[in-house]
Amino acid sequence: MKKLTILTGAGISAESGIKTFRDGDGLWENHSITDVASPEGWRRDRALVLEFYNQRRRQLHEVEPNDAHCLLAELEKYFEVRIITQNIDDLHERAGSTNILHLHGELFKSCSSNNKNLIYEHKHDINIGDKAEDGSQLRPFIVWFGEDVPLMKEASQMAKEADIFLVIGTSLQVYPAAGLLHDIKDNCLLIVINPNETNVGYGQRAVVMKETATQGMKLLFDKLVNLA
Ligand code: OAD
Repeated sequence: MKKLTILTGAGISAESGIKTFRDGDGLWENHSITDVASPEGWRRDRALVLEFYNQRRRQLHEVEPNDAHCLLAELEKYFEVRIITQNIDDLHERAGSTNILHLHGELFKSCSSNNKNLIYEHKHDINIGDKAEDGSQLRPFIVWFGEDVPLMKEASQMAKEADIFLVIGTSLQVYPAAGLLHDIKDNCLLIVINPNETNVGYGQRAVVMKETATQGMKLLFDKLVNLA
């Protein structure tokens, strides 16, 4: 089977009702990245950080995967599909995809604030005083700005091995994730689905579909299957 690697970002979950980060009215319009998504912010005001992610977690219980997530899951019949997602939601899992790498962590997990290897399933609020087994405060299992991205090596390998690399719903402004585009082979087919211009250097070689994730995937599905 050919290898289809997919890099997804907040845009794929937008039609499920989850806000993106950088679009108008996106999450970073109303919150400072440093306050809620950095080790400094955590040191300064843990309650604020926990509340930001508690709100995201509560909302995640109320949304469903959309057609784009579902069509990606369906593609496992035809390809060896690997999803590299920057998203912390579990909508790819709920749609039925089985090979998902969460580069930036997972909202439904927590970890020790002193040891990121102590990881727990956590579907509800994290509160001040909730402790890991090492006695440390629990924090969201999220890769914050300024922190290492431990799964990057694995993601890079998935990009290198891809016969087709599909990019859906990401502004490609955040590194190292955006750098995955530089890892793909010269003969790898690169397809980008995004309703807006993304000002990044994939240049002429990408097939760009200026569509939303669901519409783009509906248009692309049969064409992809024909390439399998
Ligand atoms: P962004 O908010 O930066 O970009 C979202 C992209 O989705 C934009 O390029 C939009 O044009 C596109 N978009 C909007 N609606 C869409 C739709 N219906 N269908 C398809 N695309 C649509 O989100 P990311 O690129 O995912 O990291 O951001 C990357 C990382 O930056 C996130 O993982 C997060 C953030 O700060 C952390 O929190 C560590």
